This record gives sequence, C-alpha cells and structure tokens, in this order.
Amino acid sequence: MAQLWGGRFTKETDKLVYRFNASISFDQKFYKQDMEGSRAHVRMLAKQGILTEEERDQILEGIDGILRDVENGTLMITDEYEDIHSFVEANLIERIGDAGKKLHTGRSRNDQVALDMKLYTRDEIRELNSLIRELLNTLLSMMEEHIHTYMPGFTHLQKAQPITLAHHLGAYFEMFKRDHERLNDIYKRMNYCPLGSGALAGTTYPLDREYTAELLNFTGATLNSMDSVADRDYVIELLSALSTIMMHLSRFCEEIIIWNSNEYRFVEIDDAYSTGSSIMPQKKNPDIAELVRGKTGRVYGALVSILTTMKGLPLAYNKDMQEDKELTFDAIDTVKGCLALFTGMISTMKFRKNVMEDSAKNGFTNATDAADYLVNHGVPFRDAHSIVGRLVLYCIEKDIAIDDMSLEELKTISPVFREDIYEAISLKTCVEKRQTIGAPSEASMRNVIGQNKKYLEDYE
Ligand code: ARG
Repeated sequence: MAQLWGGRFTKETDKLVYRFNASISFDQKFYKQDMEGSRAHVRMLAKQGILTEEERDQILEGIDGILRDVENGTLMITDEYEDIHSFVEANLIERIGDAGKKLHTGRSRNDQVALDMKLYTRDEIRELNSLIRELLNTLLSMMEEHIHTYMPGFTHLQKAQPITLAHHLGAYFEMFKRDHERLNDIYKRMNYCPLGSGALAGTTYPLDREYTAELLNFTGATLNSMDSVADRDYVIELLSALSTIMMHLSRFCEEIIIWNSNEYRFVEIDDAYSTGSSIMPQKKNPDIAELVRGKTGRVYGALVSILTTMKGLPLAYNKDMQEDKELTFDAIDTVKGCLALFTGMISTMKFRKNVMEDSAKNGFTNATDAADYLVNHGVPFRDAHSIVGRLVLYCIEKDIAIDDMSLEELKTISPVFREDIYEAISLKTCVEKRQTIGAPSEASMRNVIGQNKKYLEDYE
C-alpha cells in the first residue's frame, strides 16, 4: 500500500478501508491528464524560482519516462497505489530521487484532482463534438437525398399532415445542433484553471497561477480557491447535456423501432445493425436502437447521482466528490458509443419510399388542406373545419380517401368544391405549399440545408 500521508498515523490502514478509499481502479483513466498538469505545475514552479531549472528538467524527464512506459506497457498502473496522483509521484521519486519529492510543492491533491477532471472533461468534450459532427453530416446528406420522400407527420402518434423525410430528419438535425452548442457553452464556462488553489486556502508560495493556466490552455485562473476545489458544476452540466443527447437519440430510436416494425415497414435496418432470435427464425430485431434507448437510463442515473452527492457538501473538499468519476466516465463512454453506433445504423438503413408515401396518402393527412381550400374560396375557417369533418366521416364509412370522392359527392357536402380541389389536396401540393421558414416544402428545405451546411463548415 503506497500512501502519501503515512507520517501522522501510528497504525496501518485496514485492508478493507484502504480498498474502499482508493480510487486508482478508475482514476487511472486520466493518467495522461495528471501528468500533463504536473508538467505545467513544475514549469511554473521553476519560473517562479521555487524549483531550480535543473530540478525542473529532471522532473519533466522523469514524468516523460513514466508516461512512455505506461503507454508502451512496461509500467503497469496497479492497485498498490491509492490513486493516480500517488502512482505518478511514487514512480517519479523512485526514478529521480530527491527532486521528485519536490513535485508536490504548492499543490494539494484537492486542486490536482480538480484540474485532472477538468482536463479530462475538456478532452472528452472535443471527442463528443467530433462524433456529433459525424452524425450531423450524415443527417444533412440524408436530408438532401430525401427532399421529395413524402411521409406522414404525426401528432399523438396519429397521422396529422404530410411532410417529407428530409423535414423529419431536419428536426433531429436542429436538436443535435443544440447539443453541440450546449457542450461548447459548458467548455467555455468551465475553462478556468483550479491549480494553485492548494487544499482550499491557496498557498504561501509565490505561484503564478495565470502562467499555469496559460500553459494548459485555460482562459484564466479560477478566482476563489475554495470554490476551485469544491466545484463540480461543470460535471453536472456535462451530465445534463449528455442526458439531453441521450434523450434525443432515444426518441429517434423509438421512431426507428416503430418504423421498422412489421406494421409500419417504413424502414429496414441493415443486417449489420440487427440481430436474430434464438427461437423464432423469422425475427430480425432492432437491438441497437433498443440498446441506445435503454442506455439512456444509465446516463440519467449518473446525472441524478452526482446532483445528489453534491447537495449536502459543506465547503470545501470532501471525499464524497471522488464519486464524480466512475459515473461520469461511464456516461461519457456510453454516449460516445451510442453516437457512433447510431450514426452507423441510420446511414445504412433503407427507407421504403413507396410505403412511406402510401401511408401519407391514407389517414386524411390532407384534411387541413381541404379546409384551407374552402377558406380560400370564402368559407369561414370554422365552417370549413366542420365541412371537412363531414367529408372525413363520409370517407371513413366508405373506406376511401378524400381524393377518391367524385366531384358530385364532394359537392353534395359543399357546393364550393370545383375540379381544382384534387390538385389542391394532392400530397405534393400539401407539402410544396408550405413555404414558411422551417416548413417542409422543397424551397424551405433547401434554404435550411444551405444554412446548416454553413453551420458545419464553421463547426468547432
Ligand atoms: N481520489 C481523490 C478524489 O478523487 C483525490 C483527492 C484526494 N484528496 C483528499 N483530500 N483525500 O477526489
């Protein structure tokens, strides 16, 4: 058991206590960030004359060696150490001797772990952003391809008005765009360096915190040393943003599962993203979509867990905060996996355009347009609504669509109808006449696609 704090203690830590307390099994995930932080710290200490240049170079070389050996597998991170910070320091001292004992000057594990978690989170936000970019790229090219793929739009999962697949996909494009912006907002807000805050009250050494912040590409140094070691707001914000991403993915998955069902048959998920049944030979199940939907619960769980952990903590550092790591790591890995698989699934999925279009033709999705036709011929909207209601009832009884009614039949319900009603309520007209910003017509969609292409060009 390699501990950094033996001096004050007269008894060995109980083995169970040691294991319960240790975090090495999970905080080794940020070994790279821990060493990156130490490198910056040491350079700052030397600049301030707290360490000599020779000591600095020895430490930097030592850390580089540890990093190299960890990465090439010759140095194992084992549970002989309490946490990743102890692992690095102990190995450094073993390698370079007394100079290594100076690494922790003017630093506490409290500001160190606050830094490591921020560095790790920052790196992961970049990775998440690039996965979202892939998803957005995929969606945009699908939108371009399906400007004329008609389908029913739903409210209450009942057919409402005709739209296009491009329009439906475009709704998700906007959601994932906001997800990307949310991550960038969080990045900006959290991007202040806590190192140099010490255990809670700063330090008596003349540290240049701004310099450390600059070396690590932060916007600046945090302004209150107690807040610096006690703040996990950005973890909460990140988990909230991740939960929202999962909520969006999950809604989309739910739709794909419905569209892929035997009843809808709008899409066919590629074999590579489906699985069979061990007993029912006919089955091809949408497991990937279901798993993404299912894993949403896990990410929400992480958010509720950290909110609960933080709510009763007096300032400043408390060990409870060690609990922020496992669930955050798990949530990040889960979302990254889901984004990648989801993008693969939708880009290989086949859309049955005819089935979608036929579905849009049934179910009276043009009823609103029939009412609008009457309004355009001088009938007040409320009356038009009721006339078309009667049309629908008539059609339901005869099991036909409005388009199937003869002009005579239409005229018996309202004399206002003329031959041009058929054109006015055709699927194409219903979609193409909706030309306001954000509507499904080709003109509106091309405009939106143009704006979103620009968004992706400037994407960071
Ligand atoms: N493993 C600890 C954590 O994750 C590191 C900080 C330890 N600080 C302390 N005062 N025990 O929070």
